[in-house]
Amino acid sequence: MANIRLDKYLADAGIGTRSQVKEILKKNRVYVNDAVAKKGDIKIDTDIDVVALDGKAIGYQEYEYFMLNKPQGVVSATKDPRDKTVVELITENKRRDLFPVGRLDKDTEGLLIITNDGKLANNLLAPGKHVDKKYYVEVSGNVTEETVEYFKTGIDIGDEEMTLPAKLEILNVDGVGENATSACNITIMEGRYHQIKRMFKACGMEVLFLKRLSMGPVSLDEDLPLGGYRKLTEEEIKSLKEVHKI
Ligand code: URA
Repeated sequence: MANIRLDKYLADAGIGTRSQVKEILKKNRVYVNDAVAKKGDIKIDTDIDVVALDGKAIGYQEYEYFMLNKPQGVVSATKDPRDKTVVELITENKRRDLFPVGRLDKDTEGLLIITNDGKLANNLLAPGKHVDKKYYVEVSGNVTEETVEYFKTGIDIGDEEMTLPAKLEILNVDGVGENATSACNITIMEGRYHQIKRMFKACGMEVLFLKRLSMGPVSLDEDLPLGGYRKLTEEEIKSLKEVHKI
């Protein structure tokens, strides 16, 4: 049950901005339980009250959860003066307060969860939460068993603290010496700025391609094209909430 103001209810439902909502209310277009509602400050019980605009009931959705297959060239933000944002790629949303759960670099692809549930985001991102994030990565250079061992110990990437241990799985190494390129899966528990790029840089290698495959219990849906998205299933939402029991 949630008790909220009518103007917030209408704005959250995507009817318009607060000032547009005010105008709509003035024009007697909104009914609450069969009575015309003119004032934005009346309280709505989202479980009981029926709100209608122009004779059509408007349902209330408190939270929305999407999985996006982020393409390159799009920034992990809600607004940006230059670039398209990940939130702008979600077009069938009811809520207007969506944000990405964490950040992927502009040139990183893959799984990004988009929601307006701040508690869930905090559950996954707050320092000390250490949720596994798995990526597919292609790098210049020869990744060896020695690199795997090094990543296991944690790496000095120039921050005050070493990184936590990361799991590196070698998938393929092409070529030799300076011309080699390697493909790996890497799982990290933190989300520091450019973390994977800096970890490989500390070993003299450059990340050429990076794609996130999973975050905690949720994996990227392989049917999603780049730039595509879908709602998270109830099980996926439940599994994310259970990561640290919220
Ligand atoms: N590490 C990086 O370097 N970049 C990302 O986008 C994610 C993890």
